[in-house]
Amino acid sequence: MWYLENDNREKIINLARKNKTPFYLYHIPTLQKEIDKYKNVFGSYNVDLLYAVKANFNKAILKIIRNNGFGADVVSGWELKRVIDCGFKKISFSGVGKTDDEIILAIKNKIYFINIESFEEFERIKYFSEKLKIKTSISVRINPDVDINSHNYITTAKKYSKFGVDFKTAFEIYTTTQKSPYLDIKAIHFHLGSQIFSSKPYEIALKKIITFLDDLKKKGIHINIIDIGGGWGVKEGNQSKGHKKLFNVLKPYLKNYKFILEPGRSIVASSGVLVTKVLYRKKVYDKYIVIVDAGMNNLIRPSLYGVYHPIINLSSKSNKSVLLDIAGPVCESSDFFARNIRFPLPERDDILIIASCGAYGYSMSSNYNLRPFTAEYLIY
Ligand SMILES: Cc1ncc(COP(=O)(O)O)c(C=O)c1O
Repeated sequence: MWYLENDNREKIINLARKNKTPFYLYHIPTLQKEIDKYKNVFGSYNVDLLYAVKANFNKAILKIIRNNGFGADVVSGWELKRVIDCGFKKISFSGVGKTDDEIILAIKNKIYFINIESFEEFERIKYFSEKLKIKTSISVRINPDVDINSHNYITTAKKYSKFGVDFKTAFEIYTTTQKSPYLDIKAIHFHLGSQIFSSKPYEIALKKIITFLDDLKKKGIHINIIDIGGGWGVKEGNQSKGHKKLFNVLKPYLKNYKFILEPGRSIVASSGVLVTKVLYRKKVYDKYIVIVDAGMNNLIRPSLYGVYHPIINLSSKSNKSVLLDIAGPVCESSDFFARNIRFPLPERDDILIIASCGAYGYSMSSNYNLRPFTAEYLIY
């Protein structure tokens, strides 16, 4: 990985000695490699790539992604404003709780399509499109009831998930849309969740969608754009792989349908690290607890999902391991980055990196305990 290469190691240590820690650091050549994997596999087919902005909304990163021909998938009015500012052209808008203001913003900007997540939301979109006399393109987010074998909190398309609608409701939305002069049926959508490592769930969901589209055809509704969402996984400490497996799911249908993908994590995860400094060590019976200056307010994934992001001490070469935990300074018992790992005991002021933080790192951070948001730096 890029952060283990000698010159990058030096750069990170220098940055950490000269600037306030913690901070996020992104390696742009790695980001470009991840982008290229999608372009190489899907680029010459009828596929639109809409980057899921929620994973990382840093403006410089967004511009790089946009310059590579991606559109954007957003989940709030604020994300929508940002991607418009950054020059994205094709924009989809998902999310279960769009407010009137957010709906109006999307309608006025005539975005690629709004992904509808409930019948009542559909009624608001219909009402405002008719009131403003602007034709709005819509897509319905289906909940196809498919498990992905991932953490419960990032599984989004099981029977009682809050996202999307069932096929019956979708049918009602599409047939009502057909009758409105201010609504245009653009696509159909599903998003199964995150950290998916098998193409099987996509295959199962897609089959259900195709059957549904055949039913709609009988009612004179022809949809030829299928948005399969994001979710392709990346193991912490690794780069993404296996895009061809995802392509193979779409391949039999490419003759008849255009596809949309909304990758987030697999584009940005491997290019980012969180750089932090060791504040204190304390011995607790038979092990140590190492306190660093980054906390769960900077990176919540370990506390929220119990995920381990590989941690590397860049400033020490010691390899005599002890049993230890690595914790942040936040006043919560869940503020841990590692528990019971064997790791060389760091010195105070050592520089550690927490790897694979390019996705859902900074973008999920908060200023809990009134701790400030961090800086973000880029290596080109
Ligand atoms: C609607 C939608 N599309 C795409 C994504 C991106 O998922 P991932 O970052 O796992 O690729 C998400 C993430 O939760 C999402 O909610």
